[in-house]
Amino acid sequence: MTTATVILAAGFGTRMKSELPKVLHPLAGRPLVEWVVRTGESIGDRRPVVVVGHGKEQVQALLGERVEYAEQKDLLGTGHAVMQATPFLIGQADRVVVLYSDMPLLREATLQQLLELYQQNEPQGDLAVAMLTIVRDDPQGFGRVVRDGAGQIQSIVEELDCSPAQKLIRELNPGIYCFNGAWLWENLPKLKQSPKGEYYLTDMIEIATSQGQRVVGMQAPLEDVFGINDRIHLAVAATALRQRINQAHMGAGVTIVDPATTYIEATVEIGQDTTIYPGCHLKGKTVIGRGCQIGPNSQIEESLIGDDCRVLYSVLEYARMDRASEIGPFGHLRKGAHLGEEVHMGNFGEVKNSYLGPGTKMGHFSYVGDATIGRNVNVSAGIITCNYDGKHKNHTELGDDVFLGSDTLLVAPVTLGPGARTGAGSVVTRDVPAGALVYGVPARPPIPKRDPD
Ligand code: UD1
Ligand code: CA
Repeated sequence: MTTATVILAAGFGTRMKSELPKVLHPLAGRPLVEWVVRTGESIGDRRPVVVVGHGKEQVQALLGERVEYAEQKDLLGTGHAVMQATPFLIGQADRVVVLYSDMPLLREATLQQLLELYQQNEPQGDLAVAMLTIVRDDPQGFGRVVRDGAGQIQSIVEELDCSPAQKLIRELNPGIYCFNGAWLWENLPKLKQSPKGEYYLTDMIEIATSQGQRVVGMQAPLEDVFGINDRIHLAVAATALRQRINQAHMGAGVTIVDPATTYIEATVEIGQDTTIYPGCHLKGKTVIGRGCQIGPNSQIEESLIGDDCRVLYSVLEYARMDRASEIGPFGHLRKGAHLGEEVHMGNFGEVKNSYLGPGTKMGHFSYVGDATIGRNVNVSAGIITCNYDGKHKNHTELGDDVFLGSDTLLVAPVTLGPGARTGAGSVVTRDVPAGALVYGVPARPPIPKRDPD
């Protein structure tokens, strides 16, 4: 049985009070709509059809070729929105699942159960819809699920149209349906406009039952159908998603000391036996190896960290750390920083667009930018690569085993050969040969002692 998905994303999202379309607001590392698109992809046999309207260009720029787009020019209701998907899906799938773009907590497993329910009932030949329902004390804003004397779902009545008795119903419509595809496309044109000019998708239920077709329901967990209308909802959903993400990592062998203060985006990968201490923000396509100690209080974005590394009170962005390297406390790796194996870098240091070879130490108050540094170099205290001359960024190169005296300034472009040494306070303006010592301002080799004769 083939399945297609339609995702409704044309609404205004007025209550977000935002220039950014509601469905593009970030949530635990993904835009809101992407959560739903992923769920749609996981259950569907073809690309989801996203019904776009408000913010169409931005949604298309985000999702690209991953989905198909049906445009809803006038927002005439949920039924009208699904009508726009007709040319894409008519004759294309046995069943059609309709999802809202603002329900990021809807789990694939819940939808799978709905599809199973559909599959169990389908052989009887008269099944039009399988739908989710919820039971909730506060029914405000939801359509009521009306059942007949035999307990069969008969219709959905929108809140505005409810009789006083219907108002008391606590079985509600979250708005997620699995339709019989052939039946849907044949009967969707029968929807009539409401007095306010809207086409209600919910009217499809009564169209079905009045034809003697069946509608079956499955009660969903409340959390799954939590819809986002404002930024308070956004924060609630973010907390729920974070909890799921953290639990998945813990299930896979990652220790998270305090999940409530650990913010891991959905895109992050973490190896077994790594410990994440409180106050960490792990973002983007960050990959962390096994046996690492991360945090407390560190932010790591789009970075690659090998096994057995340590990150303490530090900030990393677009950086890389090889096996058993360490940063912190209070280090900053900026774009293109790469620490080789067993490098130690810490205490108020900053590295940008530079490679530090294996075993190099950079422990105290230094800035290294646009540099290539060899193995076992001693970047001692207060070292600065003066990489910017006001016009260009210039390169610094340090060979293996270079020893820099405290407070050395390396005025780039400059190269120090393997084993070169500088005295404390040197300002190095010229290249230094392998094994040579320079010192002073500007740095020079020692003056040979004059022969007293
Ligand atoms: C809808 C249901 C209601 C249900 C509730 C659950 C109908 C008529 N009513 O009401 O029974 O209890 O959801 O949240 O379906 N959208 C479009 N184009 C439109 C209108 C809506 O794409 O013209 C999209 C919105 O972006 C949103 C979703 O459809 O993602 C739901 O729309 P909304 O206006 O919130 O529906 P409700 O009136 O809340
Ligand atoms: Ca709504």
